This record gives sequence, C-alpha cells and structure tokens, in this order.
Amino acid sequence: MKSDATSPVTIPSLIARKSRGEKIVALTAYDYIMALLLDEAGVDVILVGDSAAMVCGGRESTLPLTMEESLYHCRMARRGVNKALLVADLPFLSYQVSTGDAMRNAGRFFKEAEVGAVKLEGGAPIAAAVKSLVQAGMPVMGHLGLTPQSIRKLGGYTVQARDRIAAEQLLEDALILQDAGVFALVLEKIPREVAKKVTARLDIPTIGIGAGPDCDGQILVTYDMLGLFEAFNPKFVRQYAHLAPTIRQAVSQYREDVRSGSFPGDDESF
Ligand code: KIV
Repeated sequence: MKSDATSPVTIPSLIARKSRGEKIVALTAYDYIMALLLDEAGVDVILVGDSAAMVCGGRESTLPLTMEESLYHCRMARRGVNKALLVADLPFLSYQVSTGDAMRNAGRFFKEAEVGAVKLEGGAPIAAAVKSLVQAGMPVMGHLGLTPQSIRKLGGYTVQARDRIAAEQLLEDALILQDAGVFALVLEKIPREVAKKVTARLDIPTIGIGAGPDCDGQILVTYDMLGLFEAFNPKFVRQYAHLAPTIRQAVSQYREDVRSGSFPGDDESF
C-alpha cells in the first residue's frame, strides 16, 4: 500500500503510513481554487475546517458556523480535489445533542459534498456517536487538546493538557476514540511530550497543530501559513509566504493605475 503520486489518498493508506514512519501532510481549504492548489502541491489531507467561520467569515470563534455554510464550503472544495482525502469539520452542535443528529448531519456531508471523512471534537462524550458513524461507513477523524468548539468552557486559546491529570485524561480520551473507530486524531496545542506519548501509544496516526514534531503528521490553517490571516499569529504557525502585504501592494498598484488612467493600456484593449 505504498503511496504514489497519482493514486487517491484512502483511509487504509493513511493509517499504513504510521508504521512506515511517513509523515502526513494536512492543510485547510474552504473553496475550489485553494483546494485545487493544495491538491496539486501534494497535500495528503485537506480539511474543510470550521475555522472557515473565522478566516472566511470574520467571526470571532468557530461556534457560529452553520451546517449550510459548512456544506457550501465543502462542495466548493470538493471540486478542486482529485487525490487528497477531503475531511469536513462537523459544525458545533451538529453532533453533540444525539447520535441520531450526528448520523443525519454527518451523512449530509457524505451525500451532498462527497467528503471522504468527517472530524468531530472531543473525547469520551462523543465516543458513541463516533462508533455509530464508523459502523455506518462514515470515517471519523478525532480532535483533542485545544478544541475550539469548547472555547467558552476553556476560556481562551491556551495550551492544554499541561498538568499530569489533564495529560492522563487526554491519553484516556485518545484510547477511547481509537476504540470507537477514529482513523486519525488531531492533537491541538498541547505540550510536545504529551503528544509524543499519545502518538507512541496509538495505532492510528496523530496529526499535530501546535503539538510538536513527534506527531505522525502536521496540519495548519492555510490562511495562517500563507500569511493571509493577520488578526493573530500563533507561535506554532510557520509562515511560508506573506500574502497579505503582497495583495495589499498589488491592489494599491491597481488603484493607482486605474486612477492615473494607465490601466487598461493598448495591449489590454480591443
Ligand atoms: O477548523 C480547523 O481548521 C481545524 C484545524 C486547525 C485542525 O480544526
């Protein structure tokens, strides 16, 4: 099951990477053009994160994102993806109330946006929902540590699992999720030693964001790593480009050219 440049990324092929020590490369996308670019660049997992609420919607948290908004983002991203595994974040309150809700709402992402998997936040309390989804043939990615849908309870975007009890609780939740059937687990903003221990104990791959180098893969919000989202810049983000200033500069130049009458020129006219 060696991954090659042309075959689509599947759940078994992702899990198999862990034993081969091949790191999983994941990023977020919320529309066609970004998904297309990430797919062409060889990203393994494209997550339509509920971070869309913040980076696309200008909201102050991920909580307001609705099912319809999320499905719209997923349908756009779907059209750009040929090879990567497309994963949809289930929005806040679309899966926490009952397993029936979780099934119906997750099912919409598979039927209406043709995603390859869904991601749910939380540990033991969502294990029953995870089990039902997986039994129904819907692959689930877990998410522990800093879970942004619980931001009201957590009180801020701070590092989680810092003390021994919290770290043990996280490991227990990770094992419960693995038993429930998740195929991979996102670990967000936790000490690297905790992530290392969890990664060593699990058979499924861990995908870190602010969780150090020992996870089986890494994910970042694309708008952060491209330097597009400037509202805040977390320590764990490495910026591979600075697109916000580049865009401002290009748009200013366009503004000057229109105002001075130098655009459009002869070459740009019929
Ligand atoms: O919503 C999101 O973008 C995420 C990733 C940061 C893991 O959940």
